[in-house]
Amino acid sequence: MKNNLPMPGLQFSIQKKSAMKAHILSRLRNSKEAVSGEVLRAELGTSRVSVWKHIQKLQELGYGIVSTGKGYQLHSCPDIPFSWEFPQREEKIHYYPETGSTMEIARDLARKGCPHFTVVIAGRQTKGRGRLQRQWFSDEGGLYFTIVLRPEIPAVLASRMNFAASLTLAETLRRLFGIEAGVKWPNDILVHDKKLCGMLSEMESEADMVSFVNIGMGINVNNDPAVFEPNAVSLKNILGHEVSKKELLSAFLDDFEKRINQGNYETVVGEWKKHAITIGRQVRVVTTKEIFEGRAADVDKDGSLILECEDGKRKTVIYGDCFHQL
Ligand code: BTN
Repeated sequence: MKNNLPMPGLQFSIQKKSAMKAHILSRLRNSKEAVSGEVLRAELGTSRVSVWKHIQKLQELGYGIVSTGKGYQLHSCPDIPFSWEFPQREEKIHYYPETGSTMEIARDLARKGCPHFTVVIAGRQTKGRGRLQRQWFSDEGGLYFTIVLRPEIPAVLASRMNFAASLTLAETLRRLFGIEAGVKWPNDILVHDKKLCGMLSEMESEADMVSFVNIGMGINVNNDPAVFEPNAVSLKNILGHEVSKKELLSAFLDDFEKRINQGNYETVVGEWKKHAITIGRQVRVVTTKEIFEGRAADVDKDGSLILECEDGKRKTVIYGDCFHQL
């Protein structure tokens, strides 16, 4: 294929600005030689000025696009999860360089009827929220996002989505980086007992059926979380080099969507238990009202933690923040 000729079948009129950027980037990525403004214009069914404006915008956003006498060449891309970096799901990706919390934006979108698997991503959060009213420090370098899910399940089964999300992320991390990512009850991801990812979920229901479950995830990727939280660690700290947030998110979203679409929610807690690092440990579970201590004997099929208390009695804990003691 010659680069300076429009590709057959690719002459179409792309209306959406982000779709235009997606097309320009994909064309430049797939070409060893410069691609002329005229080719891009023809393929996009737009004007040369419009092509030039998109190129200029992409350059402003950090893309290393060089203009030569023969056309445009792409030399580098920023590691930013812009919507056009996810061509298959572009319409459902909302990226903010900075926001209060992705949970708030996702909730608004969900209440307004946004589609299943809408994803809200932030470069940093100024009011990041953690479990049990805690703050979630969300500085540059971490990956912060909330996914809106609309599973057709009874509200009592909503927590299965959380188990599906943490199980999937543990498996994605193991596959991509070969690290021993384990799940701490209920949904944290730990590596060698240090927290790599926290998860927060919110649900609304109607007539006992889930209306939406929003799952917010904060993954320590290229940041240094131990500055705020001594028991936290990032992928950069573990691997000794930075990794692409874009690629990690893309791989996780693909894996998670596949799992969710299979709809096999009955077995999810059982699968999650294969990576569970809480079972067998002495733990302290803190809820908004009570504190429980004991040995984590098991996690039942609904995701509740079964504690063996000092007096030998068993206690079922439905929710709470769990601290490993030994
Ligand atoms: C925890 O472990 O306490 C849960 C942390 C959840 C943090 C994520 S970051 C993306 C989303 N937006 C928030 O404000 N919180 C969640």
